[in-house]
Amino acid sequence: MLNTRNCTLFFEGKWSEEEILGYVPSGSMISHDHSSFPEPNAFIFGDNFEILASLVPHYREAFDLIYIDPPFGTGQDFSQPEKDVAYSDDLIDHEFLAFLHKRLVLLRELLSERGTIYLHIDKKIGHYVKLIMDEVFGYQNFINDITRIKCNPKNFSRKAYGNYSDMILVYAKKRDQQIWNEVREPLTESEVKKLFPKIHPEKGRYTTHPLHAPGETINGDTGQEWKGLFPPKGRHWRYSREELSKLDNEGLIEWSSKGNPRKMVFAKEHPGKKVQDVWTFKDKGMSYVSYPTEKNHDLLQRIIQHSSHPDSLVLDAFAGSGGTLINASRLGRKWVGIDQSEEAKVVIEENMEKEGIVYRSLLFLAEE
Ligand SMILES: C[S@@+](CC[C@H](N)C(=O)[O-])C[C@H]1O[C@@H](n2cnc3c(N)ncnc32)[C@H](O)[C@@H]1O
Repeated sequence: MLNTRNCTLFFEGKWSEEEILGYVPSGSMISHDHSSFPEPNAFIFGDNFEILASLVPHYREAFDLIYIDPPFGTGQDFSQPEKDVAYSDDLIDHEFLAFLHKRLVLLRELLSERGTIYLHIDKKIGHYVKLIMDEVFGYQNFINDITRIKCNPKNFSRKAYGNYSDMILVYAKKRDQQIWNEVREPLTESEVKKLFPKIHPEKGRYTTHPLHAPGETINGDTGQEWKGLFPPKGRHWRYSREELSKLDNEGLIEWSSKGNPRKMVFAKEHPGKKVQDVWTFKDKGMSYVSYPTEKNHDLLQRIIQHSSHPDSLVLDAFAGSGGTLINASRLGRKWVGIDQSEEAKVVIEENMEKEGIVYRSLLFLAEE
C-alpha cells in the first residue's frame, strides 16, 4: 500500500512492507503470573518492534487510539536530574526514519477501522515523518498537523527565530470513519466580555441577535406580521410567530427604546469554541515531572476524549512516564503501553501506584 501520490520513498535501511509484516519476533512475552498473552491494561517492557510484531496476530485492528511520542532523532541522552539516563535518542537521519517506518507499519495493522493515530514529533524531523506517514497510512487519511506550543517563547542568541512549538501528526485508519467526539474549548474571560457585553441581573452576561434573517418569505408564517411588525425588506423571521411569542413570554426578547425586538443570547449557553490546529499545552519543567520528556497531561486528555470511546483500547508504544496510559485510565479506557527503558518502567510503576491503577506488567524476553 503506497499512497504518496505516485512516488515511493527511499531511504537507506528501509524495510519493505513484506519484510516488516513477515517479521517473526525473536522471543516472547512473559508475565509474573506466567500467562504469556497481555490482556489490557498491560505494560510491556522491551523493544517495541518485537512487541508490536508479537501483538499484531492477536490485536489486529483492535486499537481505536494510538498516541506515540518517539525519540526525535536528536542524538541526545535524556535523564532526570541526579538519575540514570532514561533513554538515549541515538538514532539519527536515515536510521531514525527506518526505525520509525518499521514501527508505523505495524501500528497501522493494530489500528482499528474507526481508529486514529497521533504522532508527536519535533519540527526538525517532523516533515520527513509526515511523508512516511502519508506512505504508510495514506495521504487521503491525513487529518491534521497540529502545532503544539510547548514552552514559553525563547530568546536564542543564535541566528534563528525562537522555537517554542512541536507538531502532532494525526491520521485516521479510514478518514471520516474515525471516532470523533467534538469536545469544545470554553471561551476565555476576555472573549466572554467581548462577545457578551451586556449583563442581566440574574442570568449574567448576554448579547442580542436579530430575530430576522436574509431571504423573503412570500406566503409562509415567517413573513407575516408579528406584534405589529413585519420583518425588514428582503428578510424573514428566524422563528415562527408562535415561537416568537413564546420567546417573548419567557423574557428572552429585548425590545429597544425604538421598539426593535432582538433575541437575548446568554454566555452560559455558549457551546464553546471548536478546537483549532494550534494547541497551547506547555510541558512542565524538569523538577515538576517524573520523566525527562513527559508530555502535558491535559494535551493527552484532549486527544483521548476526541478520538476514543469508553470501550476503546488505547496504545502507546513509546510510553515513557505512562502519561497516555494514566489518562486513558482516568477517562475509563483500557490500554497497552510499551517502553524499553528501565527508568520508564520504574516511573510507570510509581505513577500507576499513585493513581491506584491495576495493570499487568510483562516482559518481552528475547531468545538467546
Ligand atoms: C519521548 S519519550 C516518551 C515520553 C512520554 N510520551 C511521556 O509523556 O513520558 C520516548 C520513549 O520511547 C522509548 N523508546 C525508544 N525506543 C524504543 C524502543 N525501540 N522500544 C520501546 N521503547 C522505546 C524511550 O525509552 C522513551 O521512554
